[in-house]
Amino acid sequence: MEESLKASIRIVTVLLATLAVATFVITPWIAAQNSNFHNAPASAKQMKNPYEAQPPEAGKSLYHLRCARCHGENGEGSGNIPPLAQEKIKAATPGELFWFITQGDVNNGMPSWATLPQRQRWLIVNYAKTLGLPQSVRANSKPAAPEKSARLSAPPPRAPFTDYRYEKPGQSRKITLKDLPAPFATPSAPNGPKVVARPEGAWPQVPAGFKVEEYIAGLDGPRMIRTAPNGDFFVSESKIGDIRVFRGITTSGKAEQMAVFASGLNRPFGINFYPPGPNPQWVYVGNTDSIVRFPYQSGDLQARGPAEHIADVPGGDSHWTRDIQFSPDGKKMFVSVGSASNVDDPDVTPGEKNRADVLELNPDGSEMRVFAYGIRNCVGLALNSKTGELWCSVNERDGLGDNLVPDYIAGGWLLRLDMVVHGQPSGPAARRKTSRAERQSHYPRRDFASA
Ligand code: HEC
Repeated sequence: MEESLKASIRIVTVLLATLAVATFVITPWIAAQNSNFHNAPASAKQMKNPYEAQPPEAGKSLYHLRCARCHGENGEGSGNIPPLAQEKIKAATPGELFWFITQGDVNNGMPSWATLPQRQRWLIVNYAKTLGLPQSVRANSKPAAPEKSARLSAPPPRAPFTDYRYEKPGQSRKITLKDLPAPFATPSAPNGPKVVARPEGAWPQVPAGFKVEEYIAGLDGPRMIRTAPNGDFFVSESKIGDIRVFRGITTSGKAEQMAVFASGLNRPFGINFYPPGPNPQWVYVGNTDSIVRFPYQSGDLQARGPAEHIADVPGGDSHWTRDIQFSPDGKKMFVSVGSASNVDDPDVTPGEKNRADVLELNPDGSEMRVFAYGIRNCVGLALNSKTGELWCSVNERDGLGDNLVPDYIAGGWLLRLDMVVHGQPSGPAARRKTSRAERQSHYPRRDFASA
């Protein structure tokens, strides 16, 4: 009895001592928790990360590009620059970090990253929070299980709008101007795609008579397929800077041969063969900031020589894809260049010069001019095989509310819509003649970081 009482007293004493030490150690930490990270406003603290389901590794190359030169590859810090692999960063909410890197602390040497697209800032935040964790924890970034989200049982969208639950190949819907909501009728939902494990039985649906099989898997960020005149498939693996070639198809639907045609490119996207016709001599590739070409003979699986620089084009992070088409007579080359931001203007933002355009050049890179402008982000370029007219698929602006603004494909005279609107020839001279105010009356300006 006496023994156990003593034992209890001993335990209580030890506990008290521990508490005293703990209080001493923990108090400043609690205080730090209560004060917001770099005085971030409460609204920033609660901001939800729309990309939280993305694997942290998705932000690694962005971190490497933007942050590592100051904060170190592993967030270890350097000189006067604080480490990011530390408790303080892990304790901050994603919203606070997002807010802080958006503002920066310019007077103290931390740049503002407001011009980076929001998505990239969030991916960097995801990655920054894992700095210093063991690789095994970081790598543990399996795609989330498919969500049984409330949206699955949400009521169907009001016609003529639709969503993936009701989309079927061969079905079309007509959406006219009067169906569109007024700007800002709703907030813009930021429901970006999340990678999830493929649910059982999920497979692309196709019209009767077609069948979908898996041809090749495991590529890293493949973005564009162009078929060579001999039938080989050229694929730009934009993320890692490769162009790959696939040839043939086995009875089980797989590629017979594959090879890396070229590597070391800077986010390559567009691919095309020049001159047009059955015997191209060159493969042109659109890096995000330049056009290059490789010597080529039909049947090559590897470039027969190094890249030859043809022209610089404006590059950057947002809207980085550059596609290439040649006029059917081979005299002109067209290159699509998306805007640097969501809505902006070269008159006030020099970085927008020659962006939100389709550029026209000679195939040797000379005589670059603006062929079509006011096109926010023309991603894919194609030629009408009968008329030779140029077409493009365009991502329109964000941030005006849901179901706005419709994306579109446009070709022929429509590509020069501005010319018709203003009754003037297109090109830089015309652009100067059209005042900013005049253009704004057609395209009201509002600043949003692009997604
Ligand atoms: C040119 C160098 C430089 C670059 C590039 C840079 N930072 Fe910083 N960063 C700093 C400096 C200097 C500070 C300290 C500022 C201060 O004292 O408030 C800082 C502070 C921070 C902090 C706060 C750290 C703390 O201990 O409170 C975070 C978070 C941060 N940076 C994240 C980033 C991220 C993410 C990137 C990449 C998008 C980045 N930084 C790029 C220089 C840089």
